[in-house]
Parts: sequence; C-alpha cells; structure tokens
Amino acid sequence: MSQRKAYRASVFHCIADPGVVGAERSYEYFEDGLLVVEDGTVVEIGTAESLLPSLSPEVEVVHYEDALITPGFVDTHIHYPQVGIIGSYGSQLLDWLETYTFPCEGQFDDSRHAHAQAEIFLRELLRNGTTTALVFGTVHKQSVDAFFEHASRLNLRMIAGKVLMDRCAPDYLVDTAESGYADSKELIERWHGKGRLSYAVTPRFAPTSSDEQLELAGKLFKEFPGLYMHTHISENRQEIEWVKELFPERDGYLDVYDHHGLIGERSVFAHGVHLHDDECRRLGDTGSAVAFCPTSNLFLGSGLLDLAHLESHGVRVGLGTDVGAGTSFSQLQSLNEAYKVLQLQGQKLDPFKAFYLATLGGARSLYLDDRIGSLQAGKEADFVVLDYEATPLISYRLKQSKSLEETLFALMILGDDRVVKETFSAGMSVHRR
Ligand code: GUN
Ligand code: ZN
Repeated sequence: MSQRKAYRASVFHCIADPGVVGAERSYEYFEDGLLVVEDGTVVEIGTAESLLPSLSPEVEVVHYEDALITPGFVDTHIHYPQVGIIGSYGSQLLDWLETYTFPCEGQFDDSRHAHAQAEIFLRELLRNGTTTALVFGTVHKQSVDAFFEHASRLNLRMIAGKVLMDRCAPDYLVDTAESGYADSKELIERWHGKGRLSYAVTPRFAPTSSDEQLELAGKLFKEFPGLYMHTHISENRQEIEWVKELFPERDGYLDVYDHHGLIGERSVFAHGVHLHDDECRRLGDTGSAVAFCPTSNLFLGSGLLDLAHLESHGVRVGLGTDVGAGTSFSQLQSLNEAYKVLQLQGQKLDPFKAFYLATLGGARSLYLDDRIGSLQAGKEADFVVLDYEATPLISYRLKQSKSLEETLFALMILGDDRVVKETFSAGMSVHRR
C-alpha cells in the first residue's frame, strides 16, 4: 500500500474532445493546483486552496515552482527495435525498410540485444513524458518478452506485440503463418492482462503477410478478450500500389484487413495518409483508430494526414511518434509537426485539441480513456511535470504569455524532452531530470 501524496503546481488536463464539446468545456485548469495520489490512483484534483485544508497533516506535499502537471503522454504507434536507426538518411518507406529497418530488426534474434534495447527505449519514452505506448516488437518472440519484462518492472501501462511477417522480407526476418500464430498465442498467454500490460496482434503491413497469415491473425484477434490489432496502412503511394498488385481481388488496402477480421474496436492503423472516403467511413463505423505520425510522415516524405476528413467520419485519431521513421520520442515535437502538417492543408490545430490528441484522445483511440489520459479521480496516476524554466528561450517565451492557450501552444512548439522535469507511472516517479 503506497501512502497518500500530493503534488502542487499548475495542473491541466483534457476531459473531453474540444472538437465535440468546444474548447471551454474540454479541459480543467488549476493555476495553483493540487493532485492527490494514493495506491497508484488519482484521489483528488483541484485548487490547492480548496484541497489543502482538508488534507491530513501527515500527507507529504511536493511543490513544483513554475511547472505544469499534465497527464502522461500516450503514443499510439512506435517501434521499440528501431531506436538505433532513428535519423537515417535519404529514402522513402520501401527503400528505408530494406536499407535500414530490416537489418536493424534482424539483430533481435539475440535476446541480450533485445533486453538492452528495451531498456534504452523505455528510458527514452519516460524522459519524454510518454507513459503509455502501442509498440511494435520484431518478428522474434524474445523481442516482446524483453520489452514486457522491462515495462513490467516499471509498472507501466504498455501494449506490444510480435511482428507477423511471412513474406516479402529477408529470410532471417520471416516467420510462417503457423509459427507466427503459435508464438503470438504463447506471448498472449504469458503477458496479456498481466499487471498493466496488453498484447497487440501485429501484422507488419499487408505486403509482408500472406492471406493465410492474415486469416490466422484475425482468428487470434477474436480468441482473447481485450486484445489489440496493430498495423500500418496507406502510408506511401508506392506501398499502396504494391498492395493492389499483391491483393488484386480486394477492394483497396483497408479491405485486405477487413476481409480477414482485423478491423474494429482496439484496431489501430498507423498513418492512413492516403485513405479514401469509403475507407475512412468504414474505420469510423467500426470503432477503429488511426495513429497520426507527423514527424514520420514528413521525414519519409509520405504525405499529409487529413485530420478533418478522418474526424468527419468519426474515426478515432491518436498521435504516434513512429520512431525510428519518426524523428523524435517527444509528443510535444509530434504536435509541433502536426500543427505544420495541418497548416499546409488549411486546417488549424489549437493547443487544446493538440494536448487532447497527445493524452485523452490517444487513450480513447486505445479504449483506455476510463483509466488513463486525464487526471480525474479514480484514474491511474500517470502524469508528467513540465518545466516552464526548461531552457532560456522557453522561460523567456512563457513569461510573455497572457493565457493558458498561449502557454500550451508555446510548449508544444518549443518543447521536447528538456521540459519533462519528472514522469510518474501509477504514482511512482520513473524519470527525474
Ligand atoms: N510499414 C511497414 N513497416 C513499417 C515500419 O517499420 N515503419 C513505418 N513507418 N512504416 C512501415
Ligand atoms: Zn510504424
């Protein structure tokens, strides 16, 4: 049993989608706020003035000056084995996979390598204030064991899965339809629902799975309650043409997954930059989600995600870094780039919507908004402390700010790992700068 503890700072959290309820009703903000936590859960949130008098004198109060507490960030798409190739020069998706990604992922047949990388990866996530992520492993089942072992030690809410790919990849990196199914099942039995961990059935993308493999993936997805499905879709134009050649009998990219029972609640599709109208509608109707990965889409020259179009069809959209095609672990930097992606299409990403995407919207995409993504009483105490004094420029800029909106916007444009002063998972400090 952990003791009750309180954290005093400015506190901000989203409680609804500003696109639905309007900005004013979408958040709570306490300039001199207090967050009270016990046993890994939020007990109370409000102004220090209202909550301090009723706090029993033995409760420790940690006071952060010039800081903002927000929920931990949610990353709806990232690859833990790709830390070593972040920032690799000169190619678009299919070349990038062959040149950099597959050789890098090949190294994960060595379990010791997987453990070392999992540790580096999780440390980096927490340094950036991300407390929940939907994570690709490699084709090797030991990659997922390594990841979950480290996540479990830190009591993090994480979702991950072994990559399924049985074709169109180097020999050293393929499974078979049967072995992929069996290995995934073994991992599900070992990890799914253990503590705060969940499993995602993870076909890499349509080109690298046979129909037999996708069929078995669909079967597996239905076999255990609460499983996720995690894959890529419509990221790059050459990729989309390739899918048409490989699956001529299907009515487009999404239909490949749909045909095999891989869409629905807790299905998350990374990218979706070039989705058609009927595909957006189908994603919306089925409760599927898209992970918007702006730093990756710009880095690989994939295209610009049309957020307004997806949302007009009711598609759940979360924010993903997509490291190692993405260029930063920081969801603040994802928001910086998301703002520009939308600018280029005449759309606006206001800071309330932006922070919603990085927290509660991501949680909603993962059907976890009853547990994480906001700091309402009863939610898991995953939160970050953002430092208004992180750098001379940020400090100076924030001193000019006349509103919460202006402060949040400056933070998302200028901020990165340097503003994350401390990260808490289920009430425990897991990173301090
Ligand atoms: N499509 C298939 N595999 C990958 C990957 O590893 N990264 C990205 N960005 N897209 C993919
Ligand atoms: Zn990806």
